[in-house]
Amino acid sequence: MPGRVILDTDTGVDDALAILLAMRSPELGIDAITGVCGNTPLDHCMRNILITLDVLDAGQKPVVARGEARPLVRELSFAGDIHGDDGLGEVTRLVDSEGTRVYPDPVQLESPIHAVDLILESADRHPDELTLVAVGPLTNVARAIMKDPERMRGLREIIIMGGAFETGGNVSPVAEFNIHADPHAAQIVCDSGIPLVFVPLDVTRQAFLDAGTIGRYAGEGSARATFVRDCTARYVAFHRRNRGVNGCFLHDPLAVAVAIREDLVTKVPARVDVETAGDLTSGMTVSDLRSARWGEPNARVCTALDVQAFIRLFEERVLA
Ligand code: RIB
Ligand code: CA
Repeated sequence: MPGRVILDTDTGVDDALAILLAMRSPELGIDAITGVCGNTPLDHCMRNILITLDVLDAGQKPVVARGEARPLVRELSFAGDIHGDDGLGEVTRLVDSEGTRVYPDPVQLESPIHAVDLILESADRHPDELTLVAVGPLTNVARAIMKDPERMRGLREIIIMGGAFETGGNVSPVAEFNIHADPHAAQIVCDSGIPLVFVPLDVTRQAFLDAGTIGRYAGEGSARATFVRDCTARYVAFHRRNRGVNGCFLHDPLAVAVAIREDLVTKVPARVDVETAGDLTSGMTVSDLRSARWGEPNARVCTALDVQAFIRLFEERVLA
């Protein structure tokens, strides 16, 4: 639902595309972007958020605040093979013919406020108006709930890129990366009583952007499209190697798009829980979308996507 938003992200490549979409969408007022460990160490995540914001035209930049550097219980596990050692497709190593970095380290400073406190203070300031879009592990969100559950229930809703319901996982046969990286945090969010929308692999794997489309816009000289081409090159190569497709899944941008236009997806109410102890199933989103017999719904799960409408929105807002 359009309105005020905080974007919580473990800025990796698709997170960066989600930041561009959010910042280029007038329906959303981006109060802040908060960083959390996940795809890449927190220091890289914070730098990547700021580098991505620098790609956009100058103008009002949102507050950027640092969050949790490690999961609640599980060990850290990064996704360097997909997002690069810098978490941004290795664009921090790109130099021009004079040896000058194409994407230099940012000048904008992070907020001195911790992400958890910023989320709580924003929820206080905008009761029932603020949507939290979480596109990384849910560590920051869980820490805020643990710190003050009542204040967090002042959020309008949390839109979560995460989970795999009627499809396989991407870090195990049953688990999706964001939930798997911090399953204990995800279960705390499931138990919070805050309205939740899951944007799982079931729909994000339909949100496929062809590399040819990226190249076409980059060829037209758009700085944003050039950045998208540069930061997704490795991400696309991963998809080509592992899925035999010439493009990439827009997991995180879809979660932002659901905040912009919820008519892009079909949602079903469901009880969702997270496996936190299983040897084989840790990080699995446990839910039965076909039956309400397992408990009162605590979330709505996206089960279908208007793919063409989403890709058109992404192209118009980010690439053009
Ligand atoms: O499973 C996809 C999710 O894991 C995305 O948020 C991607 O950025 C990674 O964090
Ligand atoms: Ca992410």
